[in-house]
Amino acid sequence: MNLVTTVTANATVDKTYRLDRFEPGTLMRVHQMESVPGGKGINVARVLRRLGHPALATGFVAGFSGAWIRHRLDQEGIWHDFVEVDGESRLSVTIPNPDGRGQTEILEPGPAINPDDQLALISVVERWARQSRCVVLAGSLPPGAFPDLYARIIRTVQAAGTPVALDASGEALRLGIAAHPFLVKPNRRELAALGLPPGLPGSVPGAAGRQALRALAEAWARLAQAEWFIVTAGEEGALAVCRRVDRGGGQGAGQDLPSFEFFWATPPEVTPVNPVGSGDAFLGGLLAGMLEGRDAAGCLRLASAAAAANVMVMGAGMIDRKIVQRLEEHVTVEAI
Ligand SMILES: Nc1ncnc2c1ncn2[C@@H]1O[C@H](COP(=O)(O)OP(=O)(O)OP(=O)(O)O)[C@@H](O)[C@H]1O
Ligand SMILES: [Mg+2]
Repeated sequence: MNLVTTVTANATVDKTYRLDRFEPGTLMRVHQMESVPGGKGINVARVLRRLGHPALATGFVAGFSGAWIRHRLDQEGIWHDFVEVDGESRLSVTIPNPDGRGQTEILEPGPAINPDDQLALISVVERWARQSRCVVLAGSLPPGAFPDLYARIIRTVQAAGTPVALDASGEALRLGIAAHPFLVKPNRRELAALGLPPGLPGSVPGAAGRQALRALAEAWARLAQAEWFIVTAGEEGALAVCRRVDRGGGQGAGQDLPSFEFFWATPPEVTPVNPVGSGDAFLGGLLAGMLEGRDAAGCLRLASAAAAANVMVMGAGMIDRKIVQRLEEHVTVEAI
């Protein structure tokens, strides 16, 4: 089955409050509000689902908020199998600035997770991985989590033969990369924090700059030992390096010969409403492309179109497949 399992270790109830004015220290009434299940893994599952692919969300949920998250995922047609923990799943409140520029965010930490909960999650993910084409680990770790929880899941799942995609930040990303996921998707800030060689330009460089960019991207992919290493750079697009391993079988050499392909994907220009979750939509689109059997450039085209569609809507991952199809025609994917 073309199932993708996504892991959200710190699932949320994402609330957006619309106010006429925002003045701390005063009484403010919300005149419009929206609540959706959130967290990066859930967002990726939503994008896959909206692009027509089955997706299962797992991770930790707790209390009434956790029950609400499950209920809403049922309504969205996203399968789920969460580990129930003590406490209450967190609320993340976003208050867009009334002038339309920027936003205020208030994020709860989420319930603390104990070691038994984490071992239970590793078992749940391992079980679903056997029926999945891919497992996605995305987002921050909750209080109490093993710093290497992602690395442990990656080792377990990949040992069972299912590839893992990782989209995290800070220590979780650093330790996760050490377990060699097949795909890593940092944004610029996350890449800088990893201490990998910097130098990503603002847009696709001319012929003269491409050699240097290829060398840089190859260094990232070799360090991570990933098949796909993608750095997203907001509205400027994304640099992707894709490693192919030509098995040297047959001739007695038995050597794996990696070769690299490099791409710059430039998104279409869209009217921004809310860019939050664009990275999740990019990852969901990319995996959808793989499930559809597209080549690397085709996957990046769908990823960029899904991400641009996400920028045009309020809720993370609430994309429309028809709009994504239209936007695909306006994405540029260049082999560099
Ligand atoms: N303003 C925009 N217009 C069109 N496409 C955009 C815009 N912003 C982002 N994108 C697309 O989304 C992709 C991911 O964006 P970005 O690098 O900001 O992800 P991110 O920081 O991981 O986001 P998040 O973690 O909130 O999901 C970009 O590579 C690009 O294709
Ligand atoms: Mg991101």
